[in-house]
Amino acid sequence: MTSPTPQSDMDRARISTDWIFRRWPKQPRFGIVLGTGAGDVAKAIEVEEVFEYREIPEFPVSTATGHASRLICGTIAGVTVVAMKGRFHLYEGYSWQRATHGIRVFDQLGLKNLIVTNAAGGINSKFVSGDVMLIASHFDWMFRYAQPRGAWNFERTPQRRSDMVYDSEFMELAEQAARRADFPIYRGVYAGMLGPNFETRAEYRALRKLGADAVGMSTIPEVCLASQFNWRVLGLSVIANVADPDILVPTSGEEVIELADIATRKLKAIVEEVLAFHR
Ligand code: HPA
Repeated sequence: MTSPTPQSDMDRARISTDWIFRRWPKQPRFGIVLGTGAGDVAKAIEVEEVFEYREIPEFPVSTATGHASRLICGTIAGVTVVAMKGRFHLYEGYSWQRATHGIRVFDQLGLKNLIVTNAAGGINSKFVSGDVMLIASHFDWMFRYAQPRGAWNFERTPQRRSDMVYDSEFMELAEQAARRADFPIYRGVYAGMLGPNFETRAEYRALRKLGADAVGMSTIPEVCLASQFNWRVLGLSVIANVADPDILVPTSGEEVIELADIATRKLKAIVEEVLAFHR
């Protein structure tokens, strides 16, 4: 018997969710999206099940440098979590809807809290490589949030500013983790650009003038959908390269991954702190 053709993004997510739930019948409380170089966070998970994206019906497969493609299900500090190791970027050619497939699956699994991590370019001159920034607000300069007719669910979410999801209690817990482990942490503004190129010197200079602290090519689609779902979000940017427009050295994808590695231990400490509090 063939399964019916999915009609909508929600139907597609339902197909993935049903498959996952048959193999891991749990209701996670937190969803985690692990970006470039967030490897140690995955190590914090007491793993119960791991699924390759390609096994899960309707799940996209990520192609970007440094991105694995697996869904890790388990617990951290006794809290049930589901983590996407490997995400989907618009610059890979995914539509906004496909890039946020995992978030709809998280929604259907019943969770309401999201932790997203990414590697970003540092715009604020006080940053050094390996710093962690808490996303307090963002620029959505991907300019892609055109929903197909009927996809935006106004009943479910009254219109609101999508940066209201960045939760202050989560940020305070992250700051507490940083104090405990003795590393600096900052709140700042993440500029979400389409990519795939790194910014030009002129663009870095403009972003700095306009009040961005870090710049990257992910996270915005996931956070905007989380906002539509009315979740609480913790957004963590690892400062990979510091983009000084006046001494711009070329940045490579490999370098970003290497530098993001320095901060992975910090991310792990933050995630553990937030989850232990919500045990
Ligand atoms: N720009 C955009 N995305 C990035 C950067 C950057 O400088 N570094 C890591 N991701």
